[in-house]
Amino acid sequence: MASFLEIADDEKGYDLDLFCVPRHYENDLEKVIIPHGLIMDRTERLARDIIQDMGGHHIVALCVLKGGYKFFADLLDYIKALNQNSDKSVPLTVDFIRVKSYCNDKSTNSVKVIGGDELSSLSGKNVLIVEDIVETGRTMQTLLSLLSECNPKMVKVVSLLVKRTPRSSGYRPDYIGFEVPDSFLVGYALDYNEYFRDLSHICILNDQAKEKYKV
Ligand code: IMP
Ligand code: MG
Repeated sequence: MASFLEIADDEKGYDLDLFCVPRHYENDLEKVIIPHGLIMDRTERLARDIIQDMGGHHIVALCVLKGGYKFFADLLDYIKALNQNSDKSVPLTVDFIRVKSYCNDKSTNSVKVIGGDELSSLSGKNVLIVEDIVETGRTMQTLLSLLSECNPKMVKVVSLLVKRTPRSSGYRPDYIGFEVPDSFLVGYALDYNEYFRDLSHICILNDQAKEKYKV
């Protein structure tokens, strides 16, 4: 089973005043739960683990937009650094897919995949799916079943976060950054109705903000 850094349910997190948070979000957040620096340090190690397992083969890194874009960019930077600084290196190409399953802070039953046509180009490739967060697991299971129709040679999934929740289907990614409590998290490209992607740290949203940005 994939190892991960566990953020406990009773994790106190960090006071917002200790870090730099955009003014426009100051009243919307409960606390910082994963500071940006810790995200980066954990991502560096994930890059090493992935290259150790998948290295030697050309990798197509598939970014699950929009929430995955920060993690994708930083993870690929670390993989590139490994490629540049060791005897072994692996060619890396990128692809992007967009899925939408959330309205307000609730996962909806329908998982919409946008841009699915290009999936056929993944046939015969070693694919690394890069996702921000797995909650029920439905998004990833839908994506994996779509992908399997295109006959890739290998598929691995890395998710920065996995939520501990009774709503989980039991699905676990191959690589996990952090296991987090069952709260709604924003920042580092994770959004609430498109807000908070422009926040560096991963934070817990307060109830007032859930109302304020509701659609
Ligand atoms: P799942 O299909 O229930 O596993 O949900 C996965 C998707 O829901 C993720 O890719 C996110 O886009 C979104 N999501 C789940 N939990 C959160 C959260 O706490 N904050 C922001 N987005 C979330
Ligand atoms: Mg996502």
